[in-house]
Amino acid sequence: MRAVVRDEYGPVDVLRVAALARPVPGPGEVVVQVGAASLNMGDLDHVLGRPRLARIGTGLFRPSHSRVGVDVAGTVEETGPDVTGLRPGDRVWADLFEVGHGALADLVTAPASALTPLPDTVPFDVAATVPHSGSLALQGLRAAGPIRPGERVLVNGAGGCVGPFAVQIAKARGAVVTAVDHGDKLDLLRELGADEVIDYTREDFTRGDRQFDVVLDIADTRSVAALRRALAPGGRYALIARRLGSFAEKALLGPVVGRLTGTRIGVFPWRPNQASDLDELAGLLVAGDVVPRIDRRYGLDEAVEAFRRLESGQARGKVLVVP
Ligand SMILES: NC(=O)c1ccc[n+]([C@@H]2O[C@H](COP(=O)([O-])OP(=O)(O)OC[C@H]3O[C@@H](n4cnc5c(N)ncnc54)[C@H](OP(=O)(O)O)[C@@H]3O)[C@@H](O)[C@H]2O)c1
Repeated sequence: MRAVVRDEYGPVDVLRVAALARPVPGPGEVVVQVGAASLNMGDLDHVLGRPRLARIGTGLFRPSHSRVGVDVAGTVEETGPDVTGLRPGDRVWADLFEVGHGALADLVTAPASALTPLPDTVPFDVAATVPHSGSLALQGLRAAGPIRPGERVLVNGAGGCVGPFAVQIAKARGAVVTAVDHGDKLDLLRELGADEVIDYTREDFTRGDRQFDVVLDIADTRSVAALRRALAPGGRYALIARRLGSFAEKALLGPVVGRLTGTRIGVFPWRPNQASDLDELAGLLVAGDVVPRIDRRYGLDEAVEAFRRLESGQARGKVLVVP
């Protein structure tokens, strides 16, 4: 079987396709035939080994996982001993972030407990766009929620991997959504259902006269002092953190400023690959409330090009890798 692997951190050229032995599932494990995989900013960080501090967890000098890719949708190929509840042929999906990565392959082995059944009506290429980024959007909005119909929700950094899910989920909750991103992405954001769009290169949403009930911050570009101006009385802010310093600022200073200004500013404990989140996201997909955007499809042997596409910032929707 083929898998995308790397032996070192580095530019995306370190990736290569290797021929590996067919995996044999151990106790409690399942081998999944990959129907489709998708790329996230977190995958790129993982390949590049950034931020350097994260290497404490992913391997100080060399990556501890040679395999790449977390978002997967596919079919159970083989189950190991002691696996109950999954059988060959079952359709499943997962975020493999905490269980070894490896979605960019023909086959991937994962604990049965990490796999969630996927409804028959959701195609693999659609499903594969969702687990990592869709769950981040869902958990971020939940942390700032619950969102009530008619509330004004601003998504900062709405045009990347996570943002399109956040915009559509907020709309499904009945919110009036303002989406902030680069001018090139505003058409996409309108297509996704945003009621209002802001080009961050031209306008600073924290300096306008509009205030919001909820701010979900994916771009992670503003200080607590600036953010409080954008929050309406009682407003709630949640950060999907990209920078340790910013995470610390929002975690430590956010609650203090929130108390002084009658708002709620904070971070949330991200819990990847929760079956209940995937079930909720499946419901949104089946109902047509969330329609993932696919930018381009690549084969396994085009993984370097796929990562370059993500890295370029040109992607409009998720980048798929289909074995
Ligand atoms: N616990 C946690 O909080 C947690 C857990 C997992 C992952 N993460 C992190 O969460 C992030 C996920 O975001 P993502 O995958 O959606 O990232 P992304 O694909 O890079 O999207 C970010 C978007 O923000 C835009 N942007 C850049 N500067 C901006 C500004 N000043 N104002 C508004 N928008 C701006 C970018 O546009 P341009 O193209 O113009 O730059 C891009 O469209 C990753 O960095 C990941 O590491 C956090």
